Amino acid sequence: MADPIVVAEGLRKSFGDVRALRGLDLNVREGTVCGVLGPNGAGKTTAVRVFATLAVPDAGHARVAGHDVVRAAGEVRARIGLAGQRAAVDEKLTGRGNLRMFGRLSHLSRREAHRRADELLDRFGLAEAADRRVAGYSGGLRRRLDLIASLVRRPQVLFLDEPTTGLDPRSRGEIWDAVRELVADGTTVLLTTQYLDEADRLADDVVVVDHGRVIATGTPDELKATIGDRLDVVVDDPADLPRAAAVLTRLAGAEPRATGDDRLSVALPGGLRPAGIVRELDRAGVDAADVRLRRPTLDEVFLRLTDRTEAAR
Ligand SMILES: Nc1ncnc2c1ncn2[C@@H]1O[C@H](COP(=O)(O)OP(=O)(O)OP(=O)(O)O)[C@@H](O)[C@H]1O
Ligand SMILES: [Mg+2]
Repeated sequence: MADPIVVAEGLRKSFGDVRALRGLDLNVREGTVCGVLGPNGAGKTTAVRVFATLAVPDAGHARVAGHDVVRAAGEVRARIGLAGQRAAVDEKLTGRGNLRMFGRLSHLSRREAHRRADELLDRFGLAEAADRRVAGYSGGLRRRLDLIASLVRRPQVLFLDEPTTGLDPRSRGEIWDAVRELVADGTTVLLTTQYLDEADRLADDVVVVDHGRVIATGTPDELKATIGDRLDVVVDDPADLPRAAAVLTRLAGAEPRATGDDRLSVALPGGLRPAGIVRELDRAGVDAADVRLRRPTLDEVFLRLTDRTEAAR
């Protein structure tokens, strides 16, 4: 297999007493989307800042496109784009003005900066808004412009820090489309997110980060497979819920989660059949309105994983 295009080995970074990264390892394959998933404060932004040469790790190494982020920061910078958690675009300028400015800042000639701005606006469907000031843009449009601004230099690797946080579903979809298009062109994308559906839809590989470390990696499907199928039970009478919970605890070997006042959900060990469960519920005098087996969502994988590290501490 080709060398990964982003590599982190044992990255550590503290801010005073706060250990933001505690030995973070990850690999991103060229031409893929890697989703770095983690709760608030997990260390996602810190890791991205290290990759983008904006922060120096206390220990460990990181390489991007074959170059060490500390010793060859300039080489790395020439090959990456970054759209941060906060928009970097200038409110007083138009969309086109911003892109031209980014072009000039990346040492494109005036003519080339203008050409590139037009090309990007066209390509990503921003031509209509191009000549309005950013101050009047919606949140989604602003974020899209921010992403596009990070493409001015045709980066080999693009880092997107929570590109869709706070956006409505339609704007999120537009950002996703833009990311897919970039990847189709051969760009490698590392994006951080708190949204599991985003990682599920967009990422080839998911890296789950918690407390400054990677606690799981795999494709979304592999991660879901690690916790097995889920069983959802809906009872006719909410008063039966405690009894249903007792049955599920006994059969599944784990306490179910209440997902509503008439429903429970539990991870199901292999080999247990819904029919057997219905029989046991029946025997306990519980009328089940619905018993259904399904794949877990990435959300459930995430909850399980982060629970486990919480308990192990
Ligand atoms: N410049 C800084 N000074 C002090 N503490 C910091 C600094 N940057 C990050 N931290 C702390 O390091 C930890 C990791 O922060 P980081 O921003 O990397 O998390 P995150 O996963 O990006 O979180 P979020 O989802 O909220 O963006 C947090 O406890 C944060 O408060
Ligand atoms: Mg962050």
